[in-house]
Amino acid sequence: MQIVILDTPEQVANYGADRFADQLKHKPDSVLGLATGSTPIALYNALIARVQRGELSFAKARTFNLDEYLGLAGTHLQSYRYFMNEHLFRHLDIDLANTAVPDGATEEPLAACDAYEAAIKAAGGIDLQLLGIGRNGHIGFNEPSSSLASRTRVKTLTPDTVKANQRFFEAGEFQPHLSITMGIGTIMEARQILLLATGEGKAAAVRATVEGPLAARCPASILQMHPKATLVLDRAAASQLEDVAFYQYIEQENQRLPGV
Ligand code: F6R
Repeated sequence: MQIVILDTPEQVANYGADRFADQLKHKPDSVLGLATGSTPIALYNALIARVQRGELSFAKARTFNLDEYLGLAGTHLQSYRYFMNEHLFRHLDIDLANTAVPDGATEEPLAACDAYEAAIKAAGGIDLQLLGIGRNGHIGFNEPSSSLASRTRVKTLTPDTVKANQRFFEAGEFQPHLSITMGIGTIMEARQILLLATGEGKAAAVRATVEGPLAARCPASILQMHPKATLVLDRAAASQLEDVAFYQYIEQENQRLPGV
């Protein structure tokens, strides 16, 4: 795992935007894996600014989102499809037909999960997958105890995750407790993974991911097994890591070895 520690959330977002821009310049028809939540918003804003300045194009890209609430149609304000349209897609030069989010309104969730896996495969697999991380170490909606080999499927959200996401729903509004999520095995097949984490609330999960044992108890710890996973952290998210000096030393050395 590459551990990049930066001073501010803004630097984390710009680092992430640079990685996406490099990917698209190198391969304009890249297949990108995307996430929702608070963390990627600044990165998405940075990408939008680059597209609007004419520096970057998503015209040939395809995207697959990690997850969606089961029971919400894409027109629902809290659906992840709506989030992606509002926060990213409608500001880019991407063809909406080339953007995929699991179908939260499906009547046949199991078939929809299989179809999502098949669509990723048919697109040639994901080149670069963006991840956030839950306070409990979840990635996508793969909560602790998820099989580390899991595929796209229906998952029950933990009460903590439901509570953390409650802020987005009106009082008394239906809030789903089920989701469709890419599995951990699905995520691990991406050729490169970029996980962003900012804020002290993520520090314990980041520590378990980087320095804890490989364990279903912290789903993100599976990234220890990925050959090209980068964790981009601000100081607060890195604050519980024991070996910060070592990670920074490695990064300095990496900068002396272009292409590593
Ligand atoms: C969302 C997703 C989740 C979030 C995680 C962190 O698509 O996959 O795993 O990345 O819950 O969310 P924020 O960024 O809101 O802290």
